[in-house]
Amino acid sequence: MYSIIRFLLFLFNPETAHHIAMKSLKVADFFGLLTLLPSPKASKPRIVFGVEFKNPVGLAAGLDKNAEYIDCLAKLGFGFIEVGTLTPRPQPGNPKPRSFRLTNERGIINRFGFNNIGIDKAILNIQHSKYKGVLGINIGKNFDTPIEEAINDYIICFKKTYDLATYIVINISSPNTKDLRRLQGEDFFENLISAIKSEQNTLAKQYKKYVPFLVKVSPDGSKSELDNIVRLLLKYNIDGVIATNTTLARDRVPQSYFKEEAGGLSGEPLRLRALKTQQYLYKGLKGKVPIIGVGGIMEAADGKERINQGAELIQIYSGLIFKGYRLIHELCERTH
Ligand SMILES: Cc1cc2nc3c(=O)[nH]c(=O)nc-3n(C[C@H](O)[C@H](O)[C@H](O)COP(=O)(O)O)c2cc1C
Repeated sequence: MYSIIRFLLFLFNPETAHHIAMKSLKVADFFGLLTLLPSPKASKPRIVFGVEFKNPVGLAAGLDKNAEYIDCLAKLGFGFIEVGTLTPRPQPGNPKPRSFRLTNERGIINRFGFNNIGIDKAILNIQHSKYKGVLGINIGKNFDTPIEEAINDYIICFKKTYDLATYIVINISSPNTKDLRRLQGEDFFENLISAIKSEQNTLAKQYKKYVPFLVKVSPDGSKSELDNIVRLLLKYNIDGVIATNTTLARDRVPQSYFKEEAGGLSGEPLRLRALKTQQYLYKGLKGKVPIIGVGGIMEAADGKERINQGAELIQIYSGLIFKGYRLIHELCERTH
């Protein structure tokens, strides 16, 4: 069934196809059709960073940037949904075209640049949704906020979403916002996570509940950058890490027509790079900081490998585009 839907959607450019798919999902939900979908095989619930997950397969950030489709996406069988990236102020993102489908390689290059309606409107969407499951909110900085002031943007979003999120993700690894990845480096990373950690302590007292926060890292970091990240995640007792965001590397797509397009590459060509980053982090963190594995999970075996290599949970984006919702079910079956 999905092969026919996919054939039709792939006739459009990726951004248009995305909007058609999301609107169709909403219509299908309106007519009660999503309740007809079979549920994934029941998994043993697992507790990670103090949160219970009904299954370990989540939706990665970026597909529902504005938290508009949480209810329908949840009905596809995900164990958790992550929305965003959201920034303090709305912003249009980069000019179009800004997303490219590498069909033969099963990859996507995107340079959206955090197009989003801003944290305040997205919060209204979250409040209007009926979803009661695990919700991650992924936050970032506005494109025109100088890197030296980036902490303020994260703190603004962190405070505003604290009471709504099951967990919050500090996205410092998107390649499409100038200088963003510098926040992973020695000069900025410690200040950023220590400031958020101290805000978390304050808010935990204020709301009388502890909301974990995770850091999402890039697959392109050097070993010394990763060593520093590991050291500081342990030092500040950070709740978790997501490995990884998209890559700037093009070594896996030498034949692609789109290989010269600027942006982050995801899907199958990212798989090994993301896996290696995850393995490196796991070796350093020794199980003390949970990992969510993401990047190139296109088959059930890829998800199983990520769990075997130290991830507690996994997320998908490109795999959902190329294989449809049955990938969620296959992953649940192989990783329960
Ligand atoms: C079109 C597109 C938009 C994305 N937008 C975001 C984003 O806003 N924030 C974020 O943290 N990651 C974003 N990502 C990265 C994904 O969350 C994920 O980390 C990456 O795509 C690797 O997973 P995959 O190979 O399963 O796609 C985006 C990915 C794609 C393909």
